[in-house]
Amino acid sequence: MNPWNTVPSADYERHMSHETVGQLAALNEITLEKVEQRYPQTVAVYGACTGNGFAHFVDTQTVYAVDINPAYLATCYDRYDPILNNLVLIQADINHDDVLIPPDSIDLIICHLFLEYVDLDRAFASFRQILRRGGLLNVVLQRSNDTGWVSNTGVTTLRPVAAIANEVTDETLRQQASPDLRFEGSQTYRMPNGKSLVSYDFINGEVTQSTSEESTDFEWPEW
Ligand SMILES: C[S@@+](CC[C@H](N)C(=O)[O-])C[C@H]1O[C@@H](n2cnc3c(N)ncnc32)[C@H](O)[C@@H]1O
Repeated sequence: MNPWNTVPSADYERHMSHETVGQLAALNEITLEKVEQRYPQTVAVYGACTGNGFAHFVDTQTVYAVDINPAYLATCYDRYDPILNNLVLIQADINHDDVLIPPDSIDLIICHLFLEYVDLDRAFASFRQILRRGGLLNVVLQRSNDTGWVSNTGVTTLRPVAAIANEVTDETLRQQASPDLRFEGSQTYRMPNGKSLVSYDFINGEVTQSTSEESTDFEWPEW
């Protein structure tokens, strides 16, 4: 069984929002930023979990939430179906199942802390199938910076997922995206526990006016 199916959603959220981790709030902010940049009509969230950031999709026509864990998706539905126009749950194991979203239909793909746990070839094949020309793929990867994969927050149920995690290098990500998903820029967020989150943007096929690739660093405030 995939270890993600064994982690209770309350444990996941407790760990990710722990004051030394702070990742839920950071990922939520990144989602808001992408929505404000693109005003998407259609969004697909891979590794949607319990719906972190979904409150920002209130003006979106259709949101697809993709995840292996049906309990996470059920929580996501309870929380966000009442405020969203059309929330579609897709329970699928990306490593084995097809993700049934209409081809070339998605304006924005959100893929936060997901690629570390899945078959990259299958994930990118799925992105390519659904992202419309000119659409944005936003990927967030974790950099452990030698602090270990899972911080010690007292939550032990997350340990089995650390065993299947693979840090995805910058080079591997760019190779997967090349040549049709064009790198637009990246931003690094330094977290209180010494880890970093790196947010990457890729545009499907489109060539824009900007010729310079941008990389910026951001110190996430302690709270
Ligand atoms: C680290 S969490 C993602 C965090 C989330 N994006 C957020 O902002 O809080 C990884 C998610 O990917 C899902 N996942 C892991 N492996 C998967 C697979 N093979 N197929 C589909 N979903 C998977 C897990 O169930 C989990 O919800």
